[in-house]
Amino acid sequence: MGRSREVKILGIESSCDDTSAAVICDRVLLSNVIANQKVHEKYGGVIPELASRVHQQNIIPVVDTALKEANITKSDLDAIAFTKGPGLLGSLLVGVSFAKGLAASIGVPLIEVNHLQGHVLSHFLEEDGKTKIFPSLPFLCLLVSGGHTQIIVVKDYLDFEIIGETIDDAAGEAFDKCAKVMGLPYPGGPVIDALAKEGNPTAFSFAKPKVADFNYSFSGLKTSFLYFLQKKIAENPAFVEENKIDLCASIQQTIIDILMDKLIKAVAKTGIKDVAIAGGVSANSGLAGRLHQTSAQLGWNVFVPERKFTTDNAAMIAITAYFKYQKALFSSLDVTPFAS
Ligand code: KG4
Ligand code: ZN
Repeated sequence: MGRSREVKILGIESSCDDTSAAVICDRVLLSNVIANQKVHEKYGGVIPELASRVHQQNIIPVVDTALKEANITKSDLDAIAFTKGPGLLGSLLVGVSFAKGLAASIGVPLIEVNHLQGHVLSHFLEEDGKTKIFPSLPFLCLLVSGGHTQIIVVKDYLDFEIIGETIDDAAGEAFDKCAKVMGLPYPGGPVIDALAKEGNPTAFSFAKPKVADFNYSFSGLKTSFLYFLQKKIAENPAFVEENKIDLCASIQQTIIDILMDKLIKAVAKTGIKDVAIAGGVSANSGLAGRLHQTSAQLGWNVFVPERKFTTDNAAMIAITAYFKYQKALFSSLDVTPFAS
């Protein structure tokens, strides 16, 4: 049987504060353009109304650049994919509306993508000239982002079973909130990661939550970190400044301990040894390091995404749409986004 025709898909991601567009040809990435919104930094978090306004300014140039970098035009596209949710409603609406308009005008199918599924399936992206080993099905994925923390059994590309998740804050939120109380800029995760490299991870210890099964909890850690700092600052106003790198290393170590404890239990219970991480927090060098160390001890095959595929990007939306395209899972033009 002859090889079927190549499929070119444009993916659009606008769930939070990054506007992104990507083009893939089958599973090969041709372009992945991301416009970050710097406007939120001074507020210490994403302001939804500002985010949707900036998406509106960015979306046309970002899509345009993605098509140019992929060396194609609109008429070469076979489908348009967009993030349906979860995310900020006003932000999602910009991507959804744009995708609908474009799909209707060029007469190609529209494909809705779940943002979380996108993070996980980013592991199946291919790049020209790069050899890559892919997780084999079924595999376990620890999805750690600013809004979610889940342990997923990926049974097939589009068949996921969530076996554990956070009952309150996400791991990324724990990083960001702890950074904020230390006066570090937003988003705090990458800042803590960088400072932690210089610090002592056992300088301070924080209580770890006791949660059933493969579930997580991070809200207690943030609160105990805040109370600990308030007490120390009362004794010495320069405490944070004098201990910043050790505080970062210690809080990062605690978050990694919490994440790894349940992941190790999930591998033991399921017997699945292909283990991936995905989402913004999977960019954390300490987490990746610990995963590799654990894999050497326990014989896992681990998969850490390249940094450019860890945080929000449209390449992950396009690859997920590729798998949906194979099954003709298309959306109608009256599809609406969902926030959570
Ligand atoms: O996946 P993502 O870009 O957006 C959501 O879907 O939430 O994740 C953003 C989160 C933020 O909380 C950010 O602080 C965190 O990922 N993050 C990191 C690192 N890079 C991004 N956390 C720890 N270490 C990093 N290097
Ligand atoms: Zn995300």
